[in-house]
Amino acid sequence: MRKKDRSPVFAALAIQAVVFGGLYLLRPLVEEAIGRPVPLLWLVLAQGLIAGIATRGFGFSAPWVIGQVIAPPLLLLALALDLPSWIFPVILILLLLVFWNVAVGRVPLFLTNRTTSAALLKLLPQKKGLHMADLGSGLGGTLRHLAKERPAAQFTGLETAPLPFALSWMLGRLNGAKNLDFRFRDIFKEDLGKFDVVYCFLSPVPMPALFEKAKAEMKPGSLFISNSFEVPGRKPQRTVKVDDRRQTKLLIWKM
Ligand SMILES: C[S@@+](CC[C@H](N)C(=O)[O-])C[C@H]1O[C@@H](n2cnc3c(N)ncnc32)[C@H](O)[C@@H]1O
Repeated sequence: MRKKDRSPVFAALAIQAVVFGGLYLLRPLVEEAIGRPVPLLWLVLAQGLIAGIATRGFGFSAPWVIGQVIAPPLLLLALALDLPSWIFPVILILLLLVFWNVAVGRVPLFLTNRTTSAALLKLLPQKKGLHMADLGSGLGGTLRHLAKERPAAQFTGLETAPLPFALSWMLGRLNGAKNLDFRFRDIFKEDLGKFDVVYCFLSPVPMPALFEKAKAEMKPGSLFISNSFEVPGRKPQRTVKVDDRRQTKLLIWKM
């Protein structure tokens, strides 16, 4: 992931630290004003709420805000349950392995639903030897579905979050499809010129740079499809509205 995107975790932690410091200083004043101690639960809920509002104020997306709001009460709950101390680093490591790209690139893990995969299938050109990539393939479900429906085409998933990659690779193997492969690879390091269709479902953050890369590398006539996320100043040639619960939009550019 590019260097300039490497700060959200530290920013989120810094927000929690500043809010904690503020509440620590304010607590005695509030207790004096109301004439009794402030319950710890109130403090923790206030910490989460204020950190969440501040995080939103700094322009973070919804998953970050939700994480900031629920982290302090969850920590209190874990402490109250008196869990063994090794559980905290283990949970942290597991979360990092799954949400690696939230930490380094502000791209969360959420998955393309079946209705959208079906809409994608209809968009695939009937070209012999078609090669499609899912940039940031998550658990690989979209490609497993497409690979089954289009056995003569080739499908490649690129993923750098360790646990989703391992799962997608294993499920791909179990699936046995010969036209499907998953690679542990940063999408910005892959040459996009070999793909006829590039699909991505990422976040607003990487879209401008990714689109410029696609423009520079993809062959004329190939398709760049973004699930939901626009490219500022680059109008798609076509938008397909999917009839699913979230009213997904597939934005399509012909290179
Ligand atoms: C919103 S999920 C989409 C998963 C899958 N494409 C789908 O539609 O079901 C985005 C995925 O992109 C991965 N990702 C983000 N940045 C990446 C990068 N630079 N290189 C590889 N994978 C990346 C994340 O780890 C995450 O699994």
